[in-house]
Amino acid sequence: MAAPFTAEQQRRFDEEMEKILARFPEDRKRAAVLPALHLVQDMLGWIPEEAMVEVARKCETTPEQVREVATFYVMYFLEPKGKHVIDVCTNISCSLRGAEKLLAHLQEKLGVELGETTADGLFTLREFECMGACGNAPVLQVDSRFHMDMTLEKADRLIESLRAQAAEKK
Ligand code: FES
Repeated sequence: MAAPFTAEQQRRFDEEMEKILARFPEDRKRAAVLPALHLVQDMLGWIPEEAMVEVARKCETTPEQVREVATFYVMYFLEPKGKHVIDVCTNISCSLRGAEKLLAHLQEKLGVELGETTADGLFTLREFECMGACGNAPVLQVDSRFHMDMTLEKADRLIESLRAQAAEKK
C-alpha cells in the first residue's frame, strides 16, 4: 500500500497526532480517531484508504474501525473533492419550496450526478439533511456558508461568481 503522505506531510502528521493523542488517556487512544481524520482531511483535502491505516496505527485500532467512523459522518470525504462543495438541502421545507428542481438544475448546469465532482475539479455536488434554516428554504451551502431563499437564477449567479473567482486565481 502506498504511503499517504510525503515525508514533510508525515512529519506534520506525526507532530499533530502527538498533540491530539496527549488530550486522551493512554488507554483511550481510539477516541482520537475523529480529530485524527479531521487532521488528515485538513492536510490532504480528503481521506484515502492508506491514511486510515495510519490513523488506525496511531490510535491503536484497526483500519476497519477507522473506516466505519469515516463512512458514518458526511463531513469526511473518502474521495477527492472539488475546490467547492455544494450541499443542497432536500428535507421537507426545502423540498416544498423547490429543492428538487434546484438540485436538478445544478446537476444539469454542472454536468454531474449527486456526489460527483466536475471535470475541472471546481465543484462537488451533494444532497444534504436539514440545515436548520427552514424559514428561508430552499437552502444550500457552499463550503459551509449558507445561501438562503435560493432560486435557479441565484444559483446560476453563485456558480458563475465562483467560476470567475477561480479563473482570476489562475
Ligand atoms: S428543510 Fe432545508 S433547511 Fe430545514
